[in-house]
Amino acid sequence: MSTLLTELQILAIQLRILPTQINIMADKFSQAILDGLEKKRSPLKMLPSYLSTPSRKEVGTFLALDFGGTNVRVLLTQLLGQGHYRVHSRVASPLHDIDNHYNYITDQSTADQLFDFIALKIGTIVKPDTRYLLGHTFSFPTHQTSLNTGTLIHWTKEIETTGMEGKDITQLLTAALSRNGLTNVLPQAIINDTVGTLLTAAYMNQSTRIGSICGTGHNTAYLEPSSPLTKAPMIINLESGNFDQLPFTSYDIQLDANSETPGAQPLEKMVSGHYIGELVRLIACNLFDAGLLATSSGRNILTTPYLLNGAHISLLQEDDTGELVIINHWLEDSLHITNSSIEDRNVLKTIATLICTRSARLVAATYLGIIKHIDPHLEHSHNIAIDGSLYEKMPGYAQDIQLTLDQALADTAAIATTTLTKDGSGVGAAIATAIAVNTKS
Ligand code: BGC
Repeated sequence: MSTLLTELQILAIQLRILPTQINIMADKFSQAILDGLEKKRSPLKMLPSYLSTPSRKEVGTFLALDFGGTNVRVLLTQLLGQGHYRVHSRVASPLHDIDNHYNYITDQSTADQLFDFIALKIGTIVKPDTRYLLGHTFSFPTHQTSLNTGTLIHWTKEIETTGMEGKDITQLLTAALSRNGLTNVLPQAIINDTVGTLLTAAYMNQSTRIGSICGTGHNTAYLEPSSPLTKAPMIINLESGNFDQLPFTSYDIQLDANSETPGAQPLEKMVSGHYIGELVRLIACNLFDAGLLATSSGRNILTTPYLLNGAHISLLQEDDTGELVIINHWLEDSLHITNSSIEDRNVLKTIATLICTRSARLVAATYLGIIKHIDPHLEHSHNIAIDGSLYEKMPGYAQDIQLTLDQALADTAAIATTTLTKDGSGVGAAIATAIAVNTKS
């Protein structure tokens, strides 16, 4: 019979991403970029943004709408040029609120209901007699034919609102603004959050060429030096969460099979905040079933899918009290798992660490793939702008990404650094709007 220790050792091997695998993955990722650019079959959607990096002279006050899937935020943002900005007012609301009895992200909600809710939020921040130009950060795979048109290809992050896939999001928003008497609010641009992060970082530091989100979802955008559409530089949204040449474990396969979208977003399902808690839960259930965890009250409770979220995984890793008392309190108070043994708490912590380290290393491999594409001789410095809860808050996550990049580039002249870029969605939408206005005039 296998012991707990043996099982954990096997798990560590299954979840380990070796340096050679990092390089192989990066090469496959670079190839997928090339294939996508050449319109060959590729897991990367390579979606054009119709934007290059900003001149840094963009100024003006714009409304930014940020729809990421968990919350909706509206910000009145003033761009001051050369990387400076001021947020004058903001409102934020969850899209699912049990206490207030609404949920706009299930299949019980329609696009019109969702956009009416969003228009209501916009209405709380705008004055009736003022004209507002609006930039929309919409953090889902969107096919754009111009800066201000975007068709949702498919939902990700388990969102299911009906009547949106295949529809032009700007038209849905404009119609809702009009239904709600907000014809003074004029949408000018729609961008992905990775594009917003890259725009914001490049507004401050012109040399930034890569923007990424490591949060509830995962994705990266980069500045393609020669876009197939214009033969000029253009930011491309990779939709890298759909990358699929990866070392899957049985847990990844199980998670995917039970998800809303089997087969879609394989990388995102291995790395992002929406899924890492579920992976930890599946592994813990497996150990329970093998009789290797002792806390009897835990097994039944852990049967609930998506019981664990990214914040719980953070908590598991943060607890450095000898007896893991913080984890114990959380298990008791939030999950009603009583009398957990220290050994079991340690196992949960170990699983969380293994999953997070794997996530950071897989993400770093994709960054390396982009760097190899834009700098084939690996001789330049690259700054990767990143936003999202995993990168910002998950203990050890940012360091693991940096370490992986440092190791992979050690024998080359290239250097890769990563920097936290906050407010990318809001400020990026304002920058995109300023660019839209400048292009028109
Ligand atoms: C979406 C991307 C988005 C990422 C981060 C993914 O689920 O497909 O468009 O950039 O989440 O929000």
